[in-house]
Amino acid sequence: MKHSISKAVFPIAGLGTRFLPATKSVPKEMLTILDRPIIEWAVIEASKSGIEEMIFVTSSRKNIVLEHFEKSEMLELNLKKKKKIDKIKLIESQNQLGKFSLVIQDEPKGLGHAVCCASNFFNEDQSFAVILPDDLILSKTPAIKQLIEIYKKTNGGSVIGLEKVPVNKVSNYGVIEYKKKNKNFLTVSGVVEKPKKSEAPSNLSIVGRYILNSKIFQSLKLGKKGFGNEIQLTDSLVSLMDSPGLYATEFDGKRFDCGSKLGFIEANVNFGINDNEINKNLRQIIKKL
Ligand code: UTP
Repeated sequence: MKHSISKAVFPIAGLGTRFLPATKSVPKEMLTILDRPIIEWAVIEASKSGIEEMIFVTSSRKNIVLEHFEKSEMLELNLKKKKKIDKIKLIESQNQLGKFSLVIQDEPKGLGHAVCCASNFFNEDQSFAVILPDDLILSKTPAIKQLIEIYKKTNGGSVIGLEKVPVNKVSNYGVIEYKKKNKNFLTVSGVVEKPKKSEAPSNLSIVGRYILNSKIFQSLKLGKKGFGNEIQLTDSLVSLMDSPGLYATEFDGKRFDCGSKLGFIEANVNFGINDNEINKNLRQIIKKL
């Protein structure tokens, strides 16, 4: 069996244009779903899946993201004075979620370029997770853990998270073509970024969860531009199709696109309904609408 997945890359250097003006000064990943920034939910998912090192690919203006996970002695001291012990525990938990590293993407040249910026963290033939925090997933078993299970089942294959989308929406997503259906996963035979409806090989869209073999960097380093004149991660996925192969799975869970206004509100409502403290009152508020 191959090694376990111990590192996750979080590409968070995008401009977040769909969420302007909020994202003019606040990184999209720091907007909150319930009482935690989007990035924390993603890091919790990784930590619960056994991942130990969190690598943020950021633009330089986003150091605030790393700050969120650092120990805050001053705040802890003040909370201690006020005897708010439960709150101390709450903020202490952030820096215990793993080891944190930062790498800068100097210009948003695309998701593929962002992932490539983290290449120095990996050896040859090493697999790692990629988590796009704005694809927030509410699930019993963490989504990335479900992908790690398939990675193990396929003896170290790369794995893509999938979601079925209506056929008339396929042109908004990266879509897979597959040749074989196995129990719980598919063997991928092709991928295409934002295809025309008439040319889409399936309605199975790629969600922001991946287990990738480090050989993907050979392709990413070529810097080939794809859809939207950006270096797309999707375009390099095909380089992983040789043994041990590229697989995909429709994980159990509900995904919210927190990079869009509607997805963000939907995530907040769903996480709120899932929260013991506010669940009842929130339901009443919704009923009254
Ligand atoms: P998005 O497609 O959501 O782009 O990127 P965006 O810039 O964040 O948001 P919009 O579309 O302008 O509103 C998907 C993920 O890839 C990261 C983003 O931060 C996000 O987590 N990304 C994208 C980078 O890190 N670098 C890039 O060059 C592009």
